[in-house]
Amino acid sequence: MWGGGSPPVVEVIESYKRVAREPGFLDRFYTRFMDRDADVRARFQGVDMARQRFVLSRAVTLLLQHASGVTHGVDGLRESAHHHGAEGMNIPAYMYDLWIDALVETVAEHDPRFTPDLDASWRTLLRREVAWFLEMTRTPDH
Ligand code: HEM
Repeated sequence: MWGGGSPPVVEVIESYKRVAREPGFLDRFYTRFMDRDADVRARFQGVDMARQRFVLSRAVTLLLQHASGVTHGVDGLRESAHHHGAEGMNIPAYMYDLWIDALVETVAEHDPRFTPDLDASWRTLLRREVAWFLEMTRTPDH
């Protein structure tokens, strides 16, 4: 179930529902994210970006579900987190900050009801969820 959490989770989920199906949302996110840093761009060399757009929408959905206390389905993220960690792609922590900035800025661009409060709610929630994801990168998945 969606929306079981307390604010700001509910506001953020409502905001994500408004933007997730906007044409161009996922594309704009990756353009922003890659324009921010040449090393981020290099990480996506050779990656199928059509598939990656699907990956992003699924990943954000799972992070928001986890934020609202839904644990079902998040197990898949554990394996992926491990893949992002030191024994896998070894994604440095600073790239997660860029990931959050790019995502929130793309939401701001697409959500007609975006406000400074909503900006703060998105960032608070994503910082917490990224910390959880980073924690899992360090936890063996086997
Ligand atoms: C909390 C934030 C993030 C989440 C939830 C997330 C989630 C995912 C998921 C579910 C996949 C697909 C499965 C996999 O390949 O492991 C993926 C792929 C990928 N992620 Fe992330 N990711 C996050 C942050 C980042 C960051 C900061 C980078 C930095 C560049 C990154 C780079 C990649 C790349 C390059 C792939 C494609 C791997 C491939 O297909 O070879 N991710 N991500």
